[in-house]
Amino acid sequence: MNIAVQTPVASGKPASSFDQQEEGGAASTFSADIIAGLSAPQKSLPCKYLYDETGSKIFEQICELDDYYLTRTEAEIFSRHLQAIAETLGPDVTMIEPGAGNCEKAQPLLAVMDSPRAYIPIDISPEILLAAESRIESLLPGLQVTPIVGDFTAPDTWGEKIAAANQVIFFPGSTIGNFTREQAKNLLGNFAKRLSGGDALLLGVDLVKDSVILERAYHDDQHVTEAFNKNLLQRINRELGADFDLDAFAHRAFYHPLRQRVEMHLVSLKPQRVSIAGVTVQFEEGETIHTENSHKYTLQSLESMLTHAGFESRQYWTDNNKHYALCYAEIP
Ligand code: AVJ
Repeated sequence: MNIAVQTPVASGKPASSFDQQEEGGAASTFSADIIAGLSAPQKSLPCKYLYDETGSKIFEQICELDDYYLTRTEAEIFSRHLQAIAETLGPDVTMIEPGAGNCEKAQPLLAVMDSPRAYIPIDISPEILLAAESRIESLLPGLQVTPIVGDFTAPDTWGEKIAAANQVIFFPGSTIGNFTREQAKNLLGNFAKRLSGGDALLLGVDLVKDSVILERAYHDDQHVTEAFNKNLLQRINRELGADFDLDAFAHRAFYHPLRQRVEMHLVSLKPQRVSIAGVTVQFEEGETIHTENSHKYTLQSLESMLTHAGFESRQYWTDNNKHYALCYAEIP
């Protein structure tokens, strides 16, 4: 067991490009980020804070919903093309997975790849990584698993450029969708800088489609996404002693066709004041807190982002409805 702890995991997470509003420089903490986000003309909160323990559990329930096609469709593409994907990745690969979580997506792929050398999952949760490490080591004996604990968007989390031949960065789950297009291009550019010629990226992205399908995925009949969104207010109440009235806010999710993204907001249902760590925040009726973006791509916009970041796309796999894409791209 050799976990590399390169970033403090507890409260003071480093500022990162994952934040929706970029303050630049100043050390970001939960309370400072919340107050700053709620003080702006368009109130917003960094979406990374949706994923505390409760939020991560609710997100797993979202993944099971009929309306939330993303997880199911990506899994379908993987199972249908698993051999082809493994062959494309080639032999003796070192696989790096930013934001790996429970590592459940990498495991079936590693199982069919030709003698993978090492698997390096990166995540902010050491508990989840430890559990995943022992599971993968018992299922795939001989594979070296070296987790890194840290925020994968923070520049120092990865430490030195990893010295291994045949590296593949595995970034599934449409996580890239949480980043603005500018942030996404920068993130992929930073990935590219860590790689050498012939190394690759395997990326999962959600595609632009009918807005009815998109909006249903983020506003499900069973109100699970609503609970996911409102958990953020509950978390602020719990951790910062705030007094958000959860019934005085409504979940809203809509597709913004020009920005090609689904935006998630919390709408204040009445004029109200909320007290957060000694600061009073005022809401007009109908005023919103922007809590998450989920960007959608076309194969062309994906291709151009990859090119700008320094990759050459080599292969796409999609489902029959073209709802979702897996893309394999190389550093030339
Ligand atoms: C985890 C970013 C892929 O954007 O679809 C799901 C998060 N938010 N429902 C997404 C999410 C509300 C999800 N990602």
